[in-house]
Amino acid sequence: MIPTFIEKDAAAVHARLSKLYPEGSRTTKVLYDAQKYSLLAGGKRIRPVLVMETCRMLGGDVRVALDYGAAVEMVHTYSLIHDDLPCMDDDDLRRGRPTNHKVFGEDIAILAGDGLLTDAFATILCCPYATAQSRADAALALSQGAGSYGMVKGQVIDMFGETHALTPEELLELHRGKTGALIEASVRLGCHAAELTRDDQRIEAIVTYAQNIGLAFQVIDDILDCTQSAEVLGKSVGSDAKDGKTTFMTFYDVQGARAYARELTDRAISAIRTLPECDRLVELAEYLVQRDY
Ligand code: IPE
Ligand code: IPE
Ligand code: MG
Ligand code: MG
Ligand code: MG
Repeated sequence: MIPTFIEKDAAAVHARLSKLYPEGSRTTKVLYDAQKYSLLAGGKRIRPVLVMETCRMLGGDVRVALDYGAAVEMVHTYSLIHDDLPCMDDDDLRRGRPTNHKVFGEDIAILAGDGLLTDAFATILCCPYATAQSRADAALALSQGAGSYGMVKGQVIDMFGETHALTPEELLELHRGKTGALIEASVRLGCHAAELTRDDQRIEAIVTYAQNIGLAFQVIDDILDCTQSAEVLGKSVGSDAKDGKTTFMTFYDVQGARAYARELTDRAISAIRTLPECDRLVELAEYLVQRDY
């Protein structure tokens, strides 16, 4: 069962995202159609939910969190479009639909992703309800999560792992980057939406929570890739084995990996336990570790 607050936040994000791109002209329609195709296909919207619930927990303005959440979902969607390309994971199914490049071609898929990534920063920087300091802090957090020391770094190590055996430490660095970095950025965006400045003590506890659920999220993703059906996941399965990836399943069996994800979730929850109003973030962590899609 998906908690009601997640469904509500996800619906609000969907509505916000659906306002982003226009019809376009004869020459530009293909770009906006490709962007809307992936952005509005669905998806669990976990990252924007994290932005919104972190902001809510801290008593911030959820209208700001909605714009910041839309921004992180744009970056995440770009990362998925590029992740599925033939030169990357070469997958055919995403969010229950043929992958972006299968429908629009590789050229448009790359450009649609480029646009989403870049437009995300404008979405933050143009948020009419946020202070200048909040917008600047949020833009920096998203840049650091998405960039060469975050998600992109993780994707590069992931590719390296196709042709080299990774050590357990390298695998952790991979997952902290490719998945953990945007999840960490999401809670940072929630903190900045609530106008916490970068030196606020509470950020450290919330980031520890995010780092642990981020790792747990990828452990579950690796399990599902080799245990779940494409119909249920809405994306290609068996992709990691096909590409010869090093994943958590290289080092654990399903039971061991589930136990590790549970341990990480417990660590996440204990990091925020003392914060007032932490209930929803606790519930979100519990939901994520139990998910089977
Ligand atoms: C998939 O992310 C890619 C990973 C980082 C594991 P999600 O599982 O959040 O994908 P959507 O957004 O629900 O499609
Ligand atoms: C991709 O990880 C994460 C990013 C897009 C940055 P995966 O390659 O494991 O994601 P899925 O399994 O295709 O969703
Ligand atoms: Mg990948
Ligand atoms: Mg992939
Ligand atoms: Mg995967």
